[in-house]
Amino acid sequence: MNNISVTYECAPNIALIKYWGKSNEDLIIPLNGSISITLDTNVLCSRTTVVLIKSNSAKIYVTLNNVTQIIDNTDLTKNAGDLINKKRLFTMLDKVRQNCGLENPFEFEIRICSSNNFPTACGMASSASGFACLAKCLAKVFDYKGDVSELARLGSGSACRSCFGGFVKWNTGANSSESLSTVLFPAEHWPEMNIIALILEDEKKAVSSTHGMKDTVLTSKLLPQRVKLVEEERLSMMEQFIREKNFSQFAKLVMQDSNSFHAVCMDTYPPLFYLNDKSKEIIHFINEFNKIDCRVKVAYSFDAGPNCFLFVLDQDLNELMFLLKNVYFLNEDLCDKIGTNETKIFLEKLNFDRIDEQRKLLLINLAIKLSNQNKSTIIKYLIHSKIGSGPVLNNNNSLLDLDGIPKFV
Ligand code: PMV
Repeated sequence: MNNISVTYECAPNIALIKYWGKSNEDLIIPLNGSISITLDTNVLCSRTTVVLIKSNSAKIYVTLNNVTQIIDNTDLTKNAGDLINKKRLFTMLDKVRQNCGLENPFEFEIRICSSNNFPTACGMASSASGFACLAKCLAKVFDYKGDVSELARLGSGSACRSCFGGFVKWNTGANSSESLSTVLFPAEHWPEMNIIALILEDEKKAVSSTHGMKDTVLTSKLLPQRVKLVEEERLSMMEQFIREKNFSQFAKLVMQDSNSFHAVCMDTYPPLFYLNDKSKEIIHFINEFNKIDCRVKVAYSFDAGPNCFLFVLDQDLNELMFLLKNVYFLNEDLCDKIGTNETKIFLEKLNFDRIDEQRKLLLINLAIKLSNQNKSTIIKYLIHSKIGSGPVLNNNNSLLDLDGIPKFV
């Protein structure tokens, strides 16, 4: 049999109703369900290639950031350097081998190579897109008969939602085979939606989500109430608002759920402070923008870090960008602050001349008011994305040759 090679590209996802807390640490089963939006792979994506080579050695080679390591299944409590959580990798491999179409799934050497099209310095988490890619590749090369989102979840919880495009729901589930994600609505359902990431900090977060949520489960008395609220009300409300394309209700709930997640972080002992003063300044900025017409036009959401994700419809995008430009990028070209080529094209297409003079005056006055409060330049990168359609099989852009040797190292 010839070597088998598969390459996938997957995008990160942003949770609209957030997951925080596990009922099972090893199997990564969440305490509450969550709903997310998948970003566009053309803007941000991880790319992973997996090559299976018939061999008696059954070795596993992992190449990340141009460093290759051979990973064995001894002492799974230790990670393979900084590269990968060994235990999670072997949980995924065990799962795939138990339920696959290959006659003897242990007779293969596995070569894995992964990279991101976005710099780690741009502050975007890559574990969701990276593990979704790995799950998609493993499922394909091993002819896996199970659910690919279960496989991705075993690598990193939120990765199960990056296995699909559009609006995705991850169901809590009573056990591993039930804790799966599914598409609620495809990307085409709401083409007017835009996602803007404002990268305020590009350093690694102080407390990882794995450790943070463990502490929350152990110490927060607020968490059970949040879990109940999400399960009993918020998931179905969010699904309804997306179905009806009711933006103002959608946006309000996105912000409330982000706030409630950070309240639970504060209620953790010792407390988890993921938001910083810059994040709070952006929250204030958005609230002021929403106040102008007494209409919720933009929503913010923050994950386990200070960086902000904005949701806005096409109709309000131009004014939002005009205000952002006048508060945060007054003396510089917006295009110098971008994270990707696609965002540059998006910014070049914006036309502030379409805003009438009276509105411009109103926005400039608000910009002056907001700028007076804090003159600092706080946004390091800006990334624009539409809703993504999900993973892309891209064997033409393989990172490994057919013998499993990295192509660009
Ligand atoms: O899957 P993890 O360990 O990256 O945790 C993700 C946690 C949040 O991003 C804060 C919320 C979510 O649902 O994505």
